[in-house]
Amino acid sequence: MLKRTNNCGQLRAADEGKEVTLSGWVRSYRDHGGLVFIDLRDREGLTQLVFNPEAHPKAHELARTLRTEWVISAKGTVRHRAEGMENPKMATGDIEIDICELEVLNKAKTPPFEVDSNANVNEELRLKYRYLDLRRDRMQHIMRVRNRAAKIIRDYHQENGFYEIETPMLGKSTPEGARDFLVPSRMTEGAFYALPQSPQLFKQILMISGMDRYFQIVKCFRDEDLRADRQPEFTQVDLEMSFVDMDDVIGITEGCFAKVFKDILDIDIQLPMQRMSYNDAVENYGIDRPDTRFEMLLKDISAIVVESSFKVFTNTVKGGGMVKGICAKGAATYSRSDIEKTLTGFVADFGARGLAWFKVQEGEDGKPVLFSSIAKFFSAEQQAAIMETFQAEIGDLILMVGDSADIVHKSLAALRCKLGEDLGLVNEDQFNFVWVVDFPLFAFNKDENRWDSLHHPFTAPFPEDVEKLDSDPQNIRSQAYDIVLNGYEIAGGSIRIHNPQVQAKVFKLLGITDEMARERFGFFLDALEYGTPPHGGLAWGLDRLVMLLTGTDNIRDVIAFPKTQKGQCLLTDAPSGVDADQLEDLYIKVVEKPTSK
Ligand code: AMO
Repeated sequence: MLKRTNNCGQLRAADEGKEVTLSGWVRSYRDHGGLVFIDLRDREGLTQLVFNPEAHPKAHELARTLRTEWVISAKGTVRHRAEGMENPKMATGDIEIDICELEVLNKAKTPPFEVDSNANVNEELRLKYRYLDLRRDRMQHIMRVRNRAAKIIRDYHQENGFYEIETPMLGKSTPEGARDFLVPSRMTEGAFYALPQSPQLFKQILMISGMDRYFQIVKCFRDEDLRADRQPEFTQVDLEMSFVDMDDVIGITEGCFAKVFKDILDIDIQLPMQRMSYNDAVENYGIDRPDTRFEMLLKDISAIVVESSFKVFTNTVKGGGMVKGICAKGAATYSRSDIEKTLTGFVADFGARGLAWFKVQEGEDGKPVLFSSIAKFFSAEQQAAIMETFQAEIGDLILMVGDSADIVHKSLAALRCKLGEDLGLVNEDQFNFVWVVDFPLFAFNKDENRWDSLHHPFTAPFPEDVEKLDSDPQNIRSQAYDIVLNGYEIAGGSIRIHNPQVQAKVFKLLGITDEMARERFGFFLDALEYGTPPHGGLAWGLDRLVMLLTGTDNIRDVIAFPKTQKGQCLLTDAPSGVDADQLEDLYIKVVEKPTSK
């Protein structure tokens, strides 16, 4: 085999005259009056090879048989391209290789889609032939960015005193709010391992073990409904630190993000990053992961509309709900059908029973007035107060939802983001980081009539709130922090409970009995009793970060071998059935899914 001397992105005019051997895939083939031109591709780029029938007839003859995606090695001499034939779009566009020897290393079938076109290819086909898809420029770029990000993250944590320590994949369930993927044990009949939803308990135990600072780039597994930014197996950058407070963890994390963004996108992130309380995020953006690239904040008009004669609103407010809205600048041009069909249908998906609207128009006296079929239910003063609240101007569109706080916030948060996109308010090149802090420790779960952790049960309350565990769980703030980038939650963490009594109280409030706690986390509760340092940490979603770094909104694009929305790997056909023998070894019997009555 001809031995490769250079890669396909490397050679320049200064290399003229060198004898080189390149190896790679045939990207394109052109026969120009006897001369054969091949663009050869490898991970690093493209180089033009030229085959001359007179100078090297044997190589030329063989070159004429080549097809796209065949794998070849070719030896020749670097030369400057003829004047006017340079290609400024190619890094190697000034040169070509005059080939004297060609070796076909392997043939390839005709690919089911063009590897070198940017055309949109059906995603199922891309996933089935992932090895061809990964050859495409865009995927090569994404994998390059992912690799680069992982290297920066690793170096940064090593430089800051973190040990990289692996934690088990076969373990016991860790509560992160999703279902576990279970692995049956052959050695212990009827027993199962759980794949980690995160290394949460192990990393806390590493702090108890005196490891001081731990990090890991680690696979996590969660069996939950999939979305565009969720995968059943995904990668976290997981870290934990001893003897720290919130500001220490936040500081370390900000430093790493700044490095990644500078190195990969040459963007200077302003530090320290903005912090926003959970309450402010929900009040103003309707959600705890606000996209702060544009305004259009939610405004509460309950106190104004409760005085109106519009029954839908007065009844909602009097019944304990609220009325909030957003003001879309310049959107009064939306047609009635845009609003009453498209936008109303959109918020209905989030539980809103309706979407009230006002267009702000110019009145006879030149002043702004509200126009809509419901305007008549509001006095001039109420209308003025509404416009004042939204700082509305002629040409604006005010959209309002009256319902329970939960539905109002969910539906308006989603509508705000949709309109932000539709009205072109989102600057795709802007990266707005926000730390969301001061979360409540618990949220009440009405269906189960108990408290749930807003993060996980190991999150510490602020010291001054600990006594409220007995009296006022609703008003306990947690020492948790989430980092949100352009509306995506990319990392979350907290200072942990290191006091066994406090941990026991939290379990109790969550409805975890002593018995259940012992059975599920006995090992951890025991460890807490043996000298636990105060500690805290955080985990980032590496996949989500790479999505933002490469400008994709599809998590499957940043994972080499992802699963579909249905949790399937189209390349390998997993999950699939197994042999009866295997099941027998594992003491497992597959039963038919019961038909629902
Ligand atoms: P959390 O559950 O918030 O915290 O997860 C941390 C980050 O992981 C990413 N993430 C996901 N990415 C892709 N697909 C998924 N299914 C998925 N689920 C989560 C998100 C998220 O911000 N142990 C705690 C961290 C800690 O307290 O230290 C934890 O796992 O970007």
